[in-house]
Amino acid sequence: MSAPQILNHPVIDDYMAKLRYKECSPEDFRRFVRQIAMLMVPYATSNLPTRSCSVDTPLETASTRVLDEPLILCPILRAGLGLLDGFLTLLPQASVAHIGLARNEETLTPEPYYFNCPSRLSEAEVIVLDPMLATGGSASEAISELKKHGAKKLRFVCIVAAPEGLDTLQSNHPDVPILAANLDRGLNEHGYILPGLGDAGDRIFGTE
Ligand code: URA
Repeated sequence: MSAPQILNHPVIDDYMAKLRYKECSPEDFRRFVRQIAMLMVPYATSNLPTRSCSVDTPLETASTRVLDEPLILCPILRAGLGLLDGFLTLLPQASVAHIGLARNEETLTPEPYYFNCPSRLSEAEVIVLDPMLATGGSASEAISELKKHGAKKLRFVCIVAAPEGLDTLQSNHPDVPILAANLDRGLNEHGYILPGLGDAGDRIFGTE
């Protein structure tokens, strides 16, 4: 198990300050989430496998390398969609899986209500996207579902993580590396991250 990577990057933190602000409009919120997502891509992908190739430059042939596909991005509906565009901007060759989870009111655990995944899941590098890692329940369930369908190489990316979510996800899926922009203090009694930024889905989609 590798330790979660918490970026605390000066440029990302500057965006985070704007994103957390309660008066940030949905339009600005979406834009900041997209920009943070783009800034996180190099960290989320730094150890992706590559293969050698040669390219004819105007002068001679260069030995270089390209990403070894397939690459699948999997936003957890619905807030994960906020991160998708930034990732796809820099990784346009990626395919996209979608997973939707709803709370089972009897067991109080998240269960998938929607799962749509490209083929070649078992060969792919899969990057699971959700801006908030709160209890870790949804992230764990999404990753379990992806594994059930054959995914073997997964990583999880969020903007804000709570210690509770990191613990849960790491103990359920010790093989899955976690990348977060910031680590916050903890959860309140309603499962919101403190200080956090509120409900990311509502703020992205203007449904507050
Ligand atoms: N999901 C959110 O959008 N925000 C939180 O603080 C916790 C879970």
